[in-house]
Amino acid sequence: MKIAVVGSINMDLVTHVQHLPKAGETIASHHFELIPGGKGANQAVAASRLGAHVSMIGMVGEDENGRVMLGGLTDAQVHIEGIKCSGTTGMAFINVSDDGENNIVLVPGANALVSTEHIADNLSILKDSDVVLLQLEIPMPVVEYTVKEAARLGKLVILNPAPARELSSELLTHVHTLTPNETELSILTGMPVSTIDEVHAAAKKLLSGGPKRVIVTLGEKGALLITADEATHIPAFRVEPVDTTAAGDSFTAAFAVGITQGMTETEAATFASKVAAIVVTRNGAQPSLPTFDEVQAYSF
Ligand code: ATP
Ligand code: RIB
Repeated sequence: MKIAVVGSINMDLVTHVQHLPKAGETIASHHFELIPGGKGANQAVAASRLGAHVSMIGMVGEDENGRVMLGGLTDAQVHIEGIKCSGTTGMAFINVSDDGENNIVLVPGANALVSTEHIADNLSILKDSDVVLLQLEIPMPVVEYTVKEAARLGKLVILNPAPARELSSELLTHVHTLTPNETELSILTGMPVSTIDEVHAAAKKLLSGGPKRVIVTLGEKGALLITADEATHIPAFRVEPVDTTAAGDSFTAAFAVGITQGMTETEAATFASKVAAIVVTRNGAQPSLPTFDEVQAYSF
């Protein structure tokens, strides 16, 4: 079973700070690192390390960061024929506080240059895959075009609607599985999400617009898997969090891998919860993503 990931590729510029700076405050970082990231690339690497055959469609810049990102994807055995080079590689400025909180400013760079023509030129990659996995760090018209084409080709379309943006009702009719966090769920539905009952009601509203399955990730509270027939709480595994960057990415990617490996949706979501829990115990985006063997061997 093959997974195509259509999405962003960023170099993360990570500053480790005692606390996140307030508006107008200047603070010194006690550690700084460059770490490969980007929601698309993170999901591609996560799925590949878990054993899936993964191809990625996206853009990096014609620069050193772009070469590093392509090298990392290749090392992770992600197929990169669908990645073009132009402009400057996307960057994410990430502050991580000592208690594990973060905030992120994106500089889209080459990710903003991904076009519908680029997707059309790489339609063979979508045709050759079983699952098409997307996020929202590339232009919305490209997401809409890709989702529509993938659905027309009969592929299972999984959309991680992050970072939070509103989605058109037409787009939602072509998505099979949506994986918002609580904030994204609230923005997508305009509904409150402060209790499990409210999360359930908001997810039900999304189901009425087309998706067959909504999985709301709830951080250390786990996830809620909702279909027309049932709602299942997937508990989080208990860990000491170090850095939650890529928790959501690894959850969605691992769920996709579980489904392609024939797990039931509850088994796949539990597998995803396990993978994401390991990720939050490690620093950074792509270096924190475990292999299948590491997941099997990990004891909580
Ligand atoms: P991020 O933006 O930090 O990547 P997110 O907001 O997209 O994350 P979350 O809901 O925070 O996504 O986390 C995704 C999944 O990761 C959760 O459903 C859970 O399974 C796991 N997870 C996150 N935080 C923790 C934690 N502290 N302990 C255990 N598991 C966690
Ligand atoms: O989800 C984490 C990712 O979001 C980071 O790697 C950063 O690049 C931003 O895109």
